[in-house]
Amino acid sequence: MKLLALFLVLISLSQSRSNFLENEQRDISYPKQIDKLFKKLDEEYYHEEKEFQYFPPSFYQKRGLYSSSIHGNAMDKENSYLYHLVRQYIGCPDSNMFVSNFVLSALLDCAELGTIQIDQDLFEQTIDAILEFRDKNQKQGIPSYSFWMQQLKNQTWYSSPINLEKIANSMKYMPQWVKTILDKMGLKFVAMSDMMLDVFHLPPDADDSSVNIALGYRIMNSPLIRQSIKDKWIRHNYDINGFYNLLKKYSYRPFDTSNSSLNTIDIRTYFGFNEYLSQLNRTENFQLFTTWIMSTDDQIEKLIAIPNNVNNFDCSVLSNTLFGLHHVLIYSNQTEFDKIFDQELQGLYLNSTSIINYAINSQIALKYPDIAFFYYPSIYDFYWFVARNVHFLNSNKQKVKHNLIKQVADSLNESMKSKGTEFLLNNSKLDKNGNIYWEEFLGIYNNKTYNEDTTFSTVMALNALLDTWTISIDIDNGISNRIFDPKTPKNVTNTIQRGMQTLLKENSFSKSNQNAFFSGSFKSYNTWFYYPMNVNYYLNGTVFDPHNPPVVLNEQVAAVRGIYNQSEYQELLQQKWLGFKPFDKFLGYNYESISYPYWSSPSITLSMGMSLLSKYQSIKQD
Ligand SMILES: *[C@@H]1O[C@H](CO)[C@@H](O)[C@H](O)[C@H]1NC(C)=O
Ligand SMILES: *[C@@H]1O[C@H](CO)[C@@H](O)[C@H](O)[C@H]1NC(C)=O
Ligand SMILES: *[C@@H]1O[C@H](CO)[C@@H](O)[C@H](O)[C@H]1NC(C)=O
Ligand SMILES: *[C@@H]1O[C@H](CO)[C@@H](O)[C@H](O)[C@H]1NC(C)=O
Ligand SMILES: *[C@@H]1O[C@H](CO)[C@@H](O)[C@H](O)[C@H]1NC(C)=O
Ligand SMILES: *[C@@H]1O[C@H](CO)[C@@H](O)[C@H](O)[C@H]1NC(C)=O
Ligand SMILES: *[C@@H]1O[C@H](CO)[C@@H](O)[C@H](O)[C@H]1NC(C)=O
Ligand SMILES: *[C@@H]1O[C@H](CO)[C@@H](O)[C@H](O)[C@H]1NC(C)=O
Ligand SMILES: *[C@@H]1O[C@H](CO)[C@@H](O)[C@H](O)[C@H]1NC(C)=O
Ligand SMILES: *[C@@H]1O[C@H](CO)[C@@H](O)[C@H](O)[C@H]1NC(C)=O
Ligand SMILES: *[C@@H]1O[C@H](CO)[C@@H](O)[C@H](O)[C@H]1NC(C)=O
Repeated sequence: MKLLALFLVLISLSQSRSNFLENEQRDISYPKQIDKLFKKLDEEYYHEEKEFQYFPPSFYQKRGLYSSSIHGNAMDKENSYLYHLVRQYIGCPDSNMFVSNFVLSALLDCAELGTIQIDQDLFEQTIDAILEFRDKNQKQGIPSYSFWMQQLKNQTWYSSPINLEKIANSMKYMPQWVKTILDKMGLKFVAMSDMMLDVFHLPPDADDSSVNIALGYRIMNSPLIRQSIKDKWIRHNYDINGFYNLLKKYSYRPFDTSNSSLNTIDIRTYFGFNEYLSQLNRTENFQLFTTWIMSTDDQIEKLIAIPNNVNNFDCSVLSNTLFGLHHVLIYSNQTEFDKIFDQELQGLYLNSTSIINYAINSQIALKYPDIAFFYYPSIYDFYWFVARNVHFLNSNKQKVKHNLIKQVADSLNESMKSKGTEFLLNNSKLDKNGNIYWEEFLGIYNNKTYNEDTTFSTVMALNALLDTWTISIDIDNGISNRIFDPKTPKNVTNTIQRGMQTLLKENSFSKSNQNAFFSGSFKSYNTWFYYPMNVNYYLNGTVFDPHNPPVVLNEQVAAVRGIYNQSEYQELLQQKWLGFKPFDKFLGYNYESISYPYWSSPSITLSMGMSLLSKYQSIKQD
């Protein structure tokens, strides 16, 4: 019985079929399209709280959140239709706070641009849900958030994904033939999930926390949001300084040898950025925000652990971390500003900006996108995350007094307007009717595409371009318009205009709204673990041979401490690590032999689509 139920649970079929770009459809107006997306978005809202049960099968869902599901990137040699169906329709619904944060932010965009009215009750319900994700191990008021909700065990709050845990637990009792079928369907990691239960116990992170801070400051400062929502948010999140003290504490300081935790980083991150790190001036401070608000030393066995036991940095997460900080810096009064923005935070801010600029201006986005954007297989996520910083700073130019922020604003503006824009234009595609679109990798293999992530990619790339080249102008009481930078090149405005045309087709959001909005760090051959290391021990303290050990990743700490001399590092790259030679080339995100989980959220495609259409229609065309 349990078995049958699991299958029913696993296989949630929906009716829509992907036929992107097939038939030329008539255009519809902006208000009509936005209205249509708003209605579809409502179907992705968890209106009711639901418990997990095997029979009749039903997944846990937290009331007030927007949906997202964990899928597996299954692929076979032919890129056959069956695997397309597996990717598209087999997913485990998730209740995380991350996705809902972005949806609320997009809805607030629309309301500010005058295209929708926010339903305050639904909005408040989502805020209620999000606030429950605050890390309860921290002092009250510190806005440190985790991706999943926490539960209490032995006086420690640990986070866990209810649906995933139930599925993983039930794998313990599955007969081999079920696992074989899962394996054949390209979902080996599901069949093996009972061995990965500990991996789900994530610490709080800078990403979830920072998008909450950005959203909160917007809410607090918007006349379009009712007072009860503001009161609630600030009651839970008043100790902003406490939060930035945590980010400082767990930051990466490659040249600081005072405490061995501080100068240690994930071997994959080190590999991806080794050229950059090796040319840093060792007599200056260098300090980056890390992803996890935790260190190896502070892990709590079986309850809170960084996946792979060591911290990393990710340029997408860094961009979101800056976005949160920018809201704090722009909206705080002088006293608060001076208290928070101390010497150390200024250094973190400057250095994190430098590496984001490096990611835009070097070839790393092409060479090692899987490492540079560790948790984001969609590269357009990154460009948009940076672009919205640019838009926010450019729109608030007169409020920026501090020289360092001016310097950061100029450099991000410059990077996005030159190389960032070039990248986005370079990767645009033309359909047979002359409309412009973007696509990434979902279902694209063996010279075949099912256009699974086309709508999403088009929405994100256009949001990135618009946020780079437009600023917001307040008109009245929280309502604003966008205007183009007068120096916007013709090929940019032209590309945006023809991209918008694609999204105004009547059927454009009726096809696949799937995406790979984010994922775990493991999502390609290069994000396996075969890289040089000088830290190699089990959590119990026993050292292992880094070249040829038994591999028990859950219990191993494999890391790089300090900075290698570059000629030495190149030599080490010739050796075997954990039994294999390092991969030197990015081989894409689709493989016949391995699959990995990613999060798809049509709520993101729809809400970001609404935000995009609202921005563009508000621009005064002349
Ligand atoms: C509970 O936590 C205490 C320390 O906080 C520890 O000594 C003890 O072993 C833990 N018990 C269990 C069952 O994990
Ligand atoms: C080293 O620093 C980390 C991060 O701040 C901290 O968690 C850890 O407790 C420190 N370790 C020691 C031995 O001081
Ligand atoms: C490194 O930084 C120090 C202090 O800012 C400076 O004096 C020195 O010239 C720099 N060295 C290099 C090689 O850039
Ligand atoms: C500045 O902001 C803080 C935090 O919002 C507040 O507690 C304080 O009263 C404000 N100070 C002034 C002078 O407005
Ligand atoms: C890092 O920040 C320090 C200030 O803390 C600054 O002196 C240094 O130039 C920065 N380096 C980079 C590459 O941003
Ligand atoms: C951003 O950079 C462009 C040129 O690259 C410049 O024209 C524009 O004034 C800058 N915007 C702001 C707000 O500084
Ligand atoms: C854009 O494409 C051109 C020609 O293929 C290439 O030389 C350039 O490096 C690309 N730019 C970026 C930022 O990817
Ligand atoms: C895809 O097409 C290209 C050029 O059209 C060809 O060189 C390549 O072999 C094809 N790949 C596959 C896997 O069929
Ligand atoms: C767009 O136009 C600018 C100048 O107008 C030019 O420098 C740039 O190369 C063009 N970009 C592309 C991708 O065509
Ligand atoms: C430490 O853990 C490893 C891996 O589980 C094990 O092989 C080793 O024997 C342990 N060492 C000690 C001293 O317990
Ligand atoms: C780097 O290491 C190599 C060999 O380990 C050594 O010969 C060389 O002098 C070192 N270079 C620097 C700049 O320290």
